[in-house]
Amino acid sequence: MSAKPRKILVTSALPYANGSIHLGHLVEYIQTDIWSRFQRMSGNECHYVCADDTHGTPIMLRAEQEGITPEALIERVHNEHLTDFKDFDIAFDNYYSTNSNENRELSQTIYKQLKANGLIDIRTIEQLYDPQKEMFLPDRFVKGTCPKCKAEDQYGDSCEVCGATYSPTELINPYSAVSGATPIMKESEHHFFKLGKCEKFLKQWLLESGDKAPLQAEATNKVSEWFESGLKDWDISRDAPYFGFEIPDAPGKYFYVWLDAPIGYIASFKNLCDKKGLDFDSYWKPDSNAEVYHFIGKDILYFHALFWPATLKFSGYRTPTKVCVHGFLTVNGQKMSKSRGTFIMARTYLNHLRPDYLRYYFAAKLSDRIEDIDLNMDDFVARVNSNLVGKYINIASRSAGFIKKRYDNKLSSELDAAGQTMLKTIQAKQTDIASLYEARQFSEAMREIMALADIANEYVDETKPWLLAKEEGQEENLHRICTSIVNAFRLLTIYLKPVLPPLTRQVEDFLNIMPLTWADAESFLLDHEIKPYKHMITRIEQKQIDALLAESAETLKAQQPSPAHYDEQQQNEKDMQMIDSIDDTIPFDDFAKVDLRIARIVKADHVEGADKLLQLTLDIGEEKTRNVFAGIKSAYAPEDLEGKLTVMVANLAPRKMRFGISEGMVLAAGPGGKALWILEPHEGAQPGMKVK
Ligand code: 2FM
Ligand code: ZN
Repeated sequence: MSAKPRKILVTSALPYANGSIHLGHLVEYIQTDIWSRFQRMSGNECHYVCADDTHGTPIMLRAEQEGITPEALIERVHNEHLTDFKDFDIAFDNYYSTNSNENRELSQTIYKQLKANGLIDIRTIEQLYDPQKEMFLPDRFVKGTCPKCKAEDQYGDSCEVCGATYSPTELINPYSAVSGATPIMKESEHHFFKLGKCEKFLKQWLLESGDKAPLQAEATNKVSEWFESGLKDWDISRDAPYFGFEIPDAPGKYFYVWLDAPIGYIASFKNLCDKKGLDFDSYWKPDSNAEVYHFIGKDILYFHALFWPATLKFSGYRTPTKVCVHGFLTVNGQKMSKSRGTFIMARTYLNHLRPDYLRYYFAAKLSDRIEDIDLNMDDFVARVNSNLVGKYINIASRSAGFIKKRYDNKLSSELDAAGQTMLKTIQAKQTDIASLYEARQFSEAMREIMALADIANEYVDETKPWLLAKEEGQEENLHRICTSIVNAFRLLTIYLKPVLPPLTRQVEDFLNIMPLTWADAESFLLDHEIKPYKHMITRIEQKQIDALLAESAETLKAQQPSPAHYDEQQQNEKDMQMIDSIDDTIPFDDFAKVDLRIARIVKADHVEGADKLLQLTLDIGEEKTRNVFAGIKSAYAPEDLEGKLTVMVANLAPRKMRFGISEGMVLAAGPGGKALWILEPHEGAQPGMKVK
């Protein structure tokens, strides 16, 4: 721990104000809350702020559908979110709203500053327009027949049946999901943020900060790909009708929700500063010595790694210290699913289980990596029952009875020698565990703590207080041993405190002590009266899980799908190229059906009339070569490929294309454009070899 308290501002992504908090959201709030609680209990000045993300078309239309104003909708959802967060013990120092005066003022000032710095461009664009509703339609609000597979009622950006992506203008028989009218093309002036002009700064900030790099390595790699494919201008305006803030000197034009949302971090903090008399500038001016940590999901990396720091830098603010990215939540190994009942709302969970269980389980799974984390229900029950209840709480219950019965609830003033050694072992891990919390290696921290709980339990097994209690002349010895056990329990409680706030409050009450701090692990609790032990936490029973899943399925069935409500995550994924999560598991037999072969690229040619394709002639050890059309023209010149080895799918059904028949497929990775890389085997592999 540093001698001088650090000043730290922490944020989690702002949840949209048209939906309930679910367990997917909670991965992030729990991760951030654990980190902030650790900072506070270590003596740092740490402020954790958040807000509802209230603007945009979906919220406007949802309110209209409910027959209320957007303000009434966001107020109702605000209260619901506040209660959910409170009941999960997410300790925000301020939970605000992006629809606030502070945010309006900050957004407008920041915009003006960007404009003064030559970073705003105004251009006319064409977009689909609903002539009946008199509004421009975001892609998701246009539906129609998929141009590829002809499935009906598909969204304007992608087909849920065949997976094709396209632009809404390509839909057959398009219609507005808002009114049903046929959309028309209409021109409108839009305001663009010239992100490309910020490239030099962004590259420096993201790629050349060495130890101080603001992103994890995996996220930095992703950002490098984005640099490769080129930074495009960002459309930051929307036309009326829109629920949001009007752009200064541009009547009828509003800031796109993603412009004012992150500014909501600053606005929420400003509001906190005004309430608490904190020094705002010392956190947000460019020369600030405070730290700013944003916790976000991988789907909104583009906004936080590129738009946001560029916005801050060129409007006179400091940039974030770190943007900490996490993966998504899967349940039982699969995407949360409404039909399987695994799309679990925060409230539904709380109707059946204590928040500590989930907080502990997430902590036991979270690291500083961007991997998805899985809530496996069987593993959840097993870990909570064996670790939290079986190992940790059990330590208290194994000694507290004696302290009450034999010693009037008083701890002894000395420890036994073996107990002291055991406690020193636990104390010796304090710095390591602190470093793990600091580095967001929570799963590693939980492993260390449970290993210490094992040591404490071994000590109990060896000293056998239940036998000593029957022996004569062991009164003092037993008292010391029980005191050592209670002290072990206290130390473990300190280490677990950031993860288990409700349980820690129960323990602090039982031990009859002030709220524990990290530094308290340096001392022992001796010659002190505790309270009579009461049962603190029970094992999870399978029937609780069954009831939770059943209620989840019921709750979601009751919710009517509405055109004005769509999965916000899908929208972010669509807006920004994201780090793909791992697909559903397949049996080995399915994989084995794909015949992958090493192929030599004998020849590569341009294809007349094709923007994206190269024609490859591939040798895979057969008598005849194969002809394959590959969409890699944006990344490769034909001459770069000739003679190289790659990997192809050799048993794909031949596809008839406009330019000829494609007899297979080569494998490549990357989001597209210049950022596309074909696979190349290590030296030694020969054409025709099977890849297994
Ligand atoms: O993706 C989302 O849920 C957004 N509402 C997150 C906004 S975070 C921040 F930038 F405001
Ligand atoms: Zn389709």
